[in-house]
Amino acid sequence: AINAFIFDLDGVLTDTAEYHYLAWSALANELAVPFDRDDNEQLKGVDRMGSLDYILKKGNVNLTEQQKLTLADKKNLHYQQLINDMSPKDLFEGVTELFAQLKQQNINIGLASASKNAQMVLERLGIADQFDYVADAAKVAQGKPHPEIFLTVAEAFFLPADQCVGIEDSIAGLQSIVSAKMHSVGIGQPEVLYQADVVYADIKSFNLQQVLALA
Ligand code: BG6
Ligand code: MG
Repeated sequence: AINAFIFDLDGVLTDTAEYHYLAWSALANELAVPFDRDDNEQLKGVDRMGSLDYILKKGNVNLTEQQKLTLADKKNLHYQQLINDMSPKDLFEGVTELFAQLKQQNINIGLASASKNAQMVLERLGIADQFDYVADAAKVAQGKPHPEIFLTVAEAFFLPADQCVGIEDSIAGLQSIVSAKMHSVGIGQPEVLYQADVVYADIKSFNLQQVLALA
C-alpha cells in the first residue's frame, strides 16, 4: 500500500517554476548566453549553483567562485522579488482537495524541494502547516537527481521506498524518485516526463485512485 505522498514544490504546487525561469533567463541574457525553454527543462529541480554552472558552461563563461556567488545572489534577489506578492490564491487548483483526501486516508504528506526559498513559498501559500515532514536544500548534501532528498522524507516517516509516491514536474526530480525506487507521478508533459509511472497535466487532473493502485 501507499503510505506517503512526497511532493516537489516549484511547478507542482504553485507556478514558481515560471519565476525561476524568468530569473534565470534574465541572468543568461545579461551574460549573452542563449537560454530557452528547452534549457529550462534541464534546469528544473536543479539547485541554484548547479543551475548557474549549466548556464555558464553553455556560454563557455569562466568565472571565479566569488563571481559565481555574486551572480547566484543576483538571480535569487530577482526571484525573491517575483515571489514577494504570492498569496494563498497562487496555490494550484486541486491541491487543497488532494491534501484533504490524503489526510482523510491517513497518508503522510511530505515535501522534497531543492529550493532554499521553499519555507518562504510555503508560508506565502498558507500551506506550511499541511506537511508531516519538509525536506529542503538545507537538509540534504546531494541535490536532485540524487535520491537523497526523497529518501530523507521516507526515513522521517519510517517507510520503505515502495510505500511512497514522489510527485515531480522536473526531469532531474523524476530521476531522483526513480533512483530512490519510489512510485512516481509526473506533472506536465508525458514526452518530457517519460520516466514517470503516470503523468497528469496538472494537480487538478490528479486521479488518486489510479495512483494508489500503483502499489
Ligand atoms: C528547485 C527549482 O525547486 O529549486 C529550481 O525547480 C531552482 O528551478 C532550485 O533552481 C533552487 O532554488 P533556490 O530557491 O534555492 O534558488
Ligand atoms: Mg519542480
